Amino acid sequence: MSLQEIFWRPSAVTSVLVLLTLLFCRGSVSTPVIKVMSNDSSRVVLQCESAGWYPEPELLWLDGEGNLLSAGPTETLRGPDDLYTVSSRVTVEKRHSNNITCRVQQRNTNQSRETHIHVPGSAVRKEPSATFIIVIIGLLYVGAAIAFVWNFMLSKKPDTKVNETELKTMTQKRSRARGDDTENKEIKEEPPSEQLEDDTSAVDMSEVIKEGEENQETETQSTAQSALTSSEN
Ligand SMILES: *[C@@H]1O[C@H](CO)[C@@H](O)[C@H](O)[C@H]1NC(C)=O
Ligand SMILES: *[C@@H]1O[C@H](CO)[C@@H](O)[C@H](O)[C@H]1NC(C)=O
Ligand SMILES: *[C@@H]1O[C@H](CO)[C@@H](O)[C@H](O)[C@H]1NC(C)=O
Repeated sequence: MSLQEIFWRPSAVTSVLVLLTLLFCRGSVSTPVIKVMSNDSSRVVLQCESAGWYPEPELLWLDGEGNLLSAGPTETLRGPDDLYTVSSRVTVEKRHSNNITCRVQQRNTNQSRETHIHVPGSAVRKEPSATFIIVIIGLLYVGAAIAFVWNFMLSKKPDTKVNETELKTMTQKRSRARGDDTENKEIKEEPPSEQLEDDTSAVDMSEVIKEGEENQETETQSTAQSALTSSEN
């Protein structure tokens, strides 16, 4: 095996390149950059990228406790300078606050770079506190009590609707007994809805009211006459 043959063996070429990288390109690897690709209420999608590696490095995602996260496949790009750029995406649930690490490392050359990002936990996902639940239940009880008392008061109130027969009996009573002005007003102020519903009833009512007024007039006349006679006496 000649010296030329040894030199052109692929492994030898690689070894030389690694040696050259170690000697001259040390520190050319870029610190990983983490980008937030999407960020909603429940999860964030992060992307990590690092360039200038030789040979191809590995990319790892770690959580705050140093556990490996399952991420998407690592994409590798080889530039014209034979150096590698690696990138990978990971989806992180916002169940709790977490410090995520992107680590890019090359075991053979004993190089590693890492970047951290803080993912705050989502407030929406928090369990409602016990005090909040107690306050809500308390408000429901108060509301139910108010509704109960209100219904009770309404049921005690007499029915304001007076039907036709009741009206007639009232006027009959009134024509017999001495009517006063307040009673007369009450009849006039009957709900107009009943009058609109039925034309005949409306006529009846107006007649009834007229009767009442006439009665009232005659009564006042008679009382005036009696007063006159009494004064004469
Ligand atoms: C994340 O890191 C910051 C400091 O870099 C620290 O204050 C915080 O407690 C860490 N959070 C978690 C969940 O590890
Ligand atoms: C990598 O370097 C560290 C010091 O920076 C050393 O402790 C460790 O033994 C090295 N590992 C290898 C595999 O060379
Ligand atoms: C996601 O968005 C929220 C608010 O919109 C912000 O507080 C949080 O820092 C963002 N997360 C990341 C990882 O940038």
